Amino acid sequence: MSNDSADLPPLALLQLLSDGKNHSGQELANALNVSRTAIWKQLAKLEPLGLELLSQSGRGYCLVGGLELLDEVLIRKQMNVSVSESLSSLNVITSIDSTNAYLMRREPGSGIIACFAEYQTAGRGRRGRQWISPFASNIYLSLRLSTNSGLGAFEGMSLAVGVVVAKTLNELGVSDVQLKWPNDVLWSGKKLGGILIEVVGDPSGVCHLVVGLGLNLRSAKSMVQAIDQPWIALDAILPEPPGRNRVASSLLNHIVPLLTDYETRGFECYKADWDMLNAQANQMVDLFMGTNKTSGLMRGVNASGALLLETEKGLEIFHGGEVSLRVAR
Ligand code: BTN
Repeated sequence: MSNDSADLPPLALLQLLSDGKNHSGQELANALNVSRTAIWKQLAKLEPLGLELLSQSGRGYCLVGGLELLDEVLIRKQMNVSVSESLSSLNVITSIDSTNAYLMRREPGSGIIACFAEYQTAGRGRRGRQWISPFASNIYLSLRLSTNSGLGAFEGMSLAVGVVVAKTLNELGVSDVQLKWPNDVLWSGKKLGGILIEVVGDPSGVCHLVVGLGLNLRSAKSMVQAIDQPWIALDAILPEPPGRNRVASSLLNHIVPLLTDYETRGFECYKADWDMLNAQANQMVDLFMGTNKTSGLMRGVNASGALLLETEKGLEIFHGGEVSLRVAR
């Protein structure tokens, strides 16, 4: 575990509270073999993690909504055998600065490796933004793959990842998922997830690509206060949302094969699906690059995933990176 790990209560306490039911201070103290004062101290750590604890006199404590902790064994069990075999390593980390940063630091290796975290102390979003990561509430997933031949063949990969995330969500019962160029997963115009690809090594030779995905599963109170753009979580879309381990394994079932084949297949075979999912097709949009703004009609993407914008100068092509796109007002 890294130095950036948070001050967490013992896992045994979290497990006791994970059922979302009431537990008296005495019951918790007995189960952990500590004093009630020690339990209060541990319970005080829950709120900074983004969890909501209800304390009612005479009834004890309850963790609002309960918790489903991620479990490597369960995730592997629910994965397709061939996918599980093609994954060199799968870790669930309790707390880390950022799963992307963690995989960028890990020893270089050849196969695909994946890691989930229950909590990120410094989750990273695109364009230097923070990714709010309340404990055991959402999916924070990173996968790393390596290449000897530079980034050229990986153009458009973040868009392709969006396509398979949308497919996964469809399979889990969420219809009408859309994608916003380059990396947002939307539902009803609100952000349900985001993808961040980072690279370590020589971009024209031996390098490692880290694909990070944040997917909102629970409408945690801590997120309501901290996120400054319209967003949504799975629990607000589905009356009975799937468990976190099921979401985790379904995501891997779709993303790992994509990463395995992308260098040879490229974006072209995902393009038609991306076009169908394009949230802003033929809308007037503003593209922001630093302080520059370019307005135009969103005309989809080209064969490598670059944005096609019909501006007053004609059809212009824009590549991803530090850009953002908004519907023009
Ligand atoms: C975005 O800004 O939309 C991209 C968000 C990506 C967040 C994920 S959470 C897992 C991985 N680790 C990080 O620090 N960021 C990505």
